[in-house]
Amino acid sequence: MTTQTEFDPKAFRRALGNFATGITVITATAPNGERVGVTANSFNSVSLDPPLILWSIDKRSGSFKVFEQASHFAVNILAADQIDLSNHFAKPSDDKFAGIEFDEGAGGAAVLRDCAAVFQCEKYEVVEGGDHWILIGKVVGFEDIGRAPLLYHQGSYSAVIPHQRFPAKAEEEAPGIKALEGRLNNNFYYLMTQAVRAYQANYQPLQLSTGLRTSEARMLMVLEQDRQLCIDDLLKEVNMPREEIQNAAEILERKGLVALTDNCYRITAKGMEQAASLWELAAEEQEKVFSQFSDDELNAFRKVLMSII
Ligand SMILES: Cc1cc2nc3c(=O)[nH]c(=O)nc-3n(C[C@H](O)[C@H](O)[C@H](O)COP(=O)(O)O)c2cc1C
Repeated sequence: MTTQTEFDPKAFRRALGNFATGITVITATAPNGERVGVTANSFNSVSLDPPLILWSIDKRSGSFKVFEQASHFAVNILAADQIDLSNHFAKPSDDKFAGIEFDEGAGGAAVLRDCAAVFQCEKYEVVEGGDHWILIGKVVGFEDIGRAPLLYHQGSYSAVIPHQRFPAKAEEEAPGIKALEGRLNNNFYYLMTQAVRAYQANYQPLQLSTGLRTSEARMLMVLEQDRQLCIDDLLKEVNMPREEIQNAAEILERKGLVALTDNCYRITAKGMEQAASLWELAAEEQEKVFSQFSDDELNAFRKVLMSII
């Protein structure tokens, strides 16, 4: 392990991306009615009594002047199926609320529909934090809808896979656990999530050993199919926000795997080779895990998975 002490901002940001977060859209309305909303993953809880939360906004954000004037803001915690909303509020625009369904909360801040949770806040304090302003809010009302949340990890959108394994010791000592295990082994949701987790635990280190993050590898594998894609097409193919696609593409470009012209990305000959070896790794792992099953079993397995998807 090498410790980096020189602060290349891009490398620093990439390292911070290992801390998985949820995603919020934070909204506010100025006294003159101007409405803003910003996608933010810097949200965190601060205090239970009084109930305080915080998030930080880039000083360059055009939306800050409204947050500065507004008495309140609303934190909309996005649900797993709200990637489009996240991308929408991450892009500057004159009217971010055109075509967006919302209700008005405290201070007129927009409360978006179908989120996982919403915290309506009174502005409590604004603290300077380098190139960001830290906004602390006092929660004056909240909704706990509990939908599965949208997550963000290493620049990619992600979803929750619950950890549900029982410690081996508890299994030996408590007979009740055995009965529960029996039930879980007949619960396909449990089995699918645990199967993905077990597969990922072996496969992900192999992919990382190529020097590429999951998101970069996925981008290269998509480009290998289409040879050239512009950013809007890539947005549909990979689960990453626009800015992160650009960051990942820059890394691939530096490695000579992708060439960049006018926001369109073309895979290079070296990139084709790297993509081929990524597909090989994927095939080898699949072979290792699935070769014990017959073609009929695998066809039935594929059919079941495809119909669920
Ligand atoms: C996943 C994700 C998380 C983000 N988190 C923040 C954040 O915490 N603070 C921030 O200022 N910008 C954040 N951004 C960027 C803003 O959403 C983006 O700059 C937006 O355009 C700001 O709106 P404005 O330029 O219209 O003010 C994030 C973007 C994404 C995609």
